[in-house]
Amino acid sequence: MVAKRSHSTKEHWQSVYSLKSAQEVGWFQAQHEVSIEFINNSGIIKDARILDVGSGATTLLDDLLDEGYSNIVAMDISASALAVSRKRLADLITWEVADITYPLDIEENSIDLWHDRAVLHFFTSNIEKQGYLKNLKRVVKRGGFVIIETFSPEGAPQCSGLDLQRYDEEMLEQFLGSDFELILFKRHVHSTPSGAKRPYVSTLFKRRE
Ligand SMILES: C[S@@+](CC[C@H](N)C(=O)[O-])C[C@H]1O[C@@H](n2cnc3c(N)ncnc32)[C@H](O)[C@@H]1O
Repeated sequence: MVAKRSHSTKEHWQSVYSLKSAQEVGWFQAQHEVSIEFINNSGIIKDARILDVGSGATTLLDDLLDEGYSNIVAMDISASALAVSRKRLADLITWEVADITYPLDIEENSIDLWHDRAVLHFFTSNIEKQGYLKNLKRVVKRGGFVIIETFSPEGAPQCSGLDLQRYDEEMLEQFLGSDFELILFKRHVHSTPSGAKRPYVSTLFKRRE
């Protein structure tokens, strides 16, 4: 039962990235201004360990390297997605193919900053959300940071043919719980490559010491 969930999720995302190029997917953006603004705002040092969950084929990795960050882990359920960035960035990044809703093979309390753009909102069942949260709480250090960016409540109810759980900043606060303090949030609109408007909320949390 559990294995089937993971298998079909993996197949879905492998097929998305085999049918479209990295620049054609709806979530493509050439620049990652909000993520970079929030990461810089956290004040982490340049060799702090950053985990980008559901990294896909994002060019955020290139932006992070350009900013001088040097200790980055990119993880995704789709090996095909990571292969796109891996071709460019090879050993500048640590690559992990894994399902974020299952226990991650990442050391406890080892992550200074968890970054998620457009991943959490795909988890509509309690079991997936709790699996995600358990990983987050196990690997993010006390005093570390969490950035979560999702479709906001006025956004589309689906993406990539999948139903979404949309969030606002208060819902994300409730999801993470009182151990995490909301430092910053921003409502903004992403334009897809075909010109559709996708309202997002981006949030920066700090884990209490
Ligand atoms: C909408 S894309 C966002 C990609 C990237 N964060 C970006 O902003 O370009 C969602 C990503 O989450 C990944 N994903 C979906 N479910 C996942 C899971 N259970 N575990 C890990 N990655 C997952 C997909 O393969 C896909 O790359």
